[in-house]
Amino acid sequence: MKDFKGKVAVVTGGGTGMGRELCRQLSREACHVAMCDMLVENMAETKSLCEAEAPSGTTITTHKCDVSVERDMQRFRDEVEDSHGPLVNLLFNNAGISGGGSFLTDEREDWEKTFGVCWYGVYYGCRAFVPMLVASEEGHIVNTSSVNGFWATLGPTVPHTAYSAAKFAVKGFSEALIGDLRVHAPHVGVSVVMPGHIGTSIALNSGTVLGKTPVLELSEQEVRALRERMMRSSGPETEAIINMSDEQIKQAMHDQAVRFRDNAPMAASEASAVILEGVRRNSWRILVGEDAHGLDEKVRANPEMAYEPGFWSFDIE
Ligand SMILES: NC(=O)c1ccc[n+]([C@@H]2O[C@H](COP(=O)([O-])OP(=O)(O)OC[C@H]3O[C@@H](n4cnc5c(N)ncnc54)[C@H](O)[C@@H]3O)[C@@H](O)[C@H]2O)c1
Repeated sequence: MKDFKGKVAVVTGGGTGMGRELCRQLSREACHVAMCDMLVENMAETKSLCEAEAPSGTTITTHKCDVSVERDMQRFRDEVEDSHGPLVNLLFNNAGISGGGSFLTDEREDWEKTFGVCWYGVYYGCRAFVPMLVASEEGHIVNTSSVNGFWATLGPTVPHTAYSAAKFAVKGFSEALIGDLRVHAPHVGVSVVMPGHIGTSIALNSGTVLGKTPVLELSEQEVRALRERMMRSSGPETEAIINMSDEQIKQAMHDQAVRFRDNAPMAASEASAVILEGVRRNSWRILVGEDAHGLDEKVRANPEMAYEPGFWSFDIE
């Protein structure tokens, strides 16, 4: 798809981050956008940003939907049909959260919610909207996985099981769709997006979606559990964590989420531009960021070492 003008795009997780930037960049090109999110205030802000920049006549709609709940997704689809008509050209299954890091110690509820958003969000999105893409003249599905879709960790002492399992599933499903679409709907393309570290609010939003207390407001008992988790992952810094006050623990966690957003090697707007360029080129695998390219090469070159401690300190040339 070379041109997005006049097309209809569905974007899940349009409230902040890459989803917001996709909505902005698409609508600037006069592409009609239907976005969904659970965090409605953020989505309203995205809509205002889009409306300020889009050519007149571009329709931007917002829809409250939890992508991990199929009936929500079906309602979103019905609302899109009411506002934009029966045809959709672009589907960005972008919504995601992190959580449920440890299969062994984290709450099963968090594990299943993270897996539900990151995998079932993509699956239900495809179930609901792919028929509308197939009915259009030209369609493209864009499923957001991650570098954790080919490398299932955040480092040797940081478990990341629910997210990685879901992102591997997204990658496998998207790759398998290539042949399926070739046979059954050759006018519909598919891409899997694998970003490295992109500066977004994902670390701040995930707790809200999981229904957690904001980190700065944690109770004494919750801080104790957080401290224990930090100590298990900290290696040589355990001593320093023991000596931190509860307030310092909370602030350190909050600052880490803010640093993730503000000190990333790539901004969400740049990442979204890379994604849209990948769609224009009909590229099925869209790696986003030098870190993602570097990691992809490194894992392929030496898969047996991928989960060994030394592997983490890779240099990207
Ligand atoms: N930021 C990164 O470094 C990075 C790296 C690799 C992959 N990703 C993936 O990129 C995608 C976009 O994330 P982002 O980094 O822009 O984060 P983000 O938090 O800024 O954006 C994700 C959006 O999804 C929404 N969302 C979360 N759960 C939802 C649900 N159940 N239903 C509907 N909306 C929901 C959030 O409210 C938010 O608006 C995610 O799939 C994420 O896993 C991000």
